[in-house]
This record gives sequence, structure tokens and C-alpha cells, in this order.
Amino acid sequence: MRQPLVIGNWKMNGSLSVTSELIQSMGAGIDGKISCEIGLCVPFVYLSIAVKQAQGLAIGIGAQTVSEFPNGAYTGEISAPMLAEVGCKWVLIGHSERRQYFNEGDDQLVLKLKAAQNAGLCPVFCVGETEQEKKSDKTFEVIQRQVSALLADKEVDLDNLVLAYEPVWAIGTGLTATPDEAQAVHAYIRDLLTLNVDESAQKVRILYGGSVKPDNAQSLFGQQDIDGGLIGGASLNAEDFLTICRQAK
Ligand code: PGA
Repeated sequence: MRQPLVIGNWKMNGSLSVTSELIQSMGAGIDGKISCEIGLCVPFVYLSIAVKQAQGLAIGIGAQTVSEFPNGAYTGEISAPMLAEVGCKWVLIGHSERRQYFNEGDDQLVLKLKAAQNAGLCPVFCVGETEQEKKSDKTFEVIQRQVSALLADKEVDLDNLVLAYEPVWAIGTGLTATPDEAQAVHAYIRDLLTLNVDESAQKVRILYGGSVKPDNAQSLFGQQDIDGGLIGGASLNAEDFLTICRQAK
């Protein structure tokens, strides 16, 4: 059995007061109707306060990216041991905005993922096709390339990893993959894992992301291979986020 997981990704949004207020409201709203695990990925500078605020609440704090290097002369970067030290549990790796705007490629992302695992963090590795790739029927090809980069590296620990399928055309656009479309890609990812690894592939959680909202979460999360969501915009509103969490059963 895979416990559903819902992770919020605030991206470059928020402030000190928003961080405190949102986590407080989320914490106050977590009740018996929520059975999923919950994560929140906040901007680096708010991590410490978020960890403090989330103490005693069933919310694990995470970062949105990480350096592939452990320390040294890499001005502006933040390492995985630093994230672990301030109390992070999660880190997003390869979000499409990192791939697109910061040119992070598959090889570098696998290094980041291993750095995260070595520091005891749980990486959430994001994959997904662009609108152009979808239009030219390349969805499965792109997913195969991105997932294979992971599987080709035998040092990657598949027991400590979450995958997220986020079609790039659905992120922040209000468009979502239909539940059937999303399920087809999730099942394909699980097949790739099973083929390359073994039965432990059944344990890997695969989240869906891209305009998940309170009114579409249930139909997406109801699919067999969708184990929860990676939530951008709707994670900046405590009530919306909790409503989404309640649908992940
Ligand atoms: P969205 O973002 O929910 O605002 O589409 C999802 C994400 O980028 O992880």
C-alpha cells in the first residue's frame, strides 16, 4: 500500500508573515478526514521558520531545489546537508521551471537527486512534457528519457524517492491532463520502474501536478497509479490546499 502524499510548492511566493500564517492555518485545519502525508516546499529563506512553525504538525517542510555539490566555492548555492541541518524532509528536483529557466539537464538532476539522498532528504523528481512535445506525440518518449536518466544510475536509491508527473502545459495554466491521460502516463512510469528495477517499483509514489485544484483533485487522485499531487497555486491558500489533501485517500 502506498500512502498518498500531497506536496505544496510555493515557488517564489510568500513572505515571513505569509509563511507563519499559512502553516498555522494549515496545521489548525488538519483533521481526521486527512489521511495523506503532507509536505510544503517553501523558498530557502523561509525554511527555518517553516520548520519551526510546523513542529508538532503533520507537515514536512522541503526545499524547491538543491545544489549537486556538498560544499565549496559555489556562490549562491545551497547544499543538501544544509537543507537537512535546518530540518528539511523533502526537496524538489527537476521541476520544469528549473529545467526550462535554469537549464538543468538530466545528468545534473541525477547528481542533485543523489546529493539529496546522501544527506537523508527525500527527493521528489519531476518529469513532464512541454506543449510542443505533447502536440508532436512525444509525451511517452520524453517521459522515458527523463525517467531512464534516473534508472541508469545504480547509485539512486529507489526506496527513498518520489516521482512527480507534471505536464509542463498544465502548470499554472488552469489546464489539466484528464484523469485518463494522467493515469496512462503514471502507469507508463510505473512500468518503466518495474521493467528496470523489480517489484519494489510498486512502492514508489508517483504524484500528479499541474493545475490541481479542489474541484479536480478527486478525479485525478482516484486513478490507480496517481498517489497524490504536487500543488502550486492552490497551496498558497490553506483551505484549498487542505480540501485537496482530503481527496487523497
Ligand atoms: P500549479 O503548479 O498547481 O500552479 O499548476 C504545479 C507545480 O508547478 O508544481
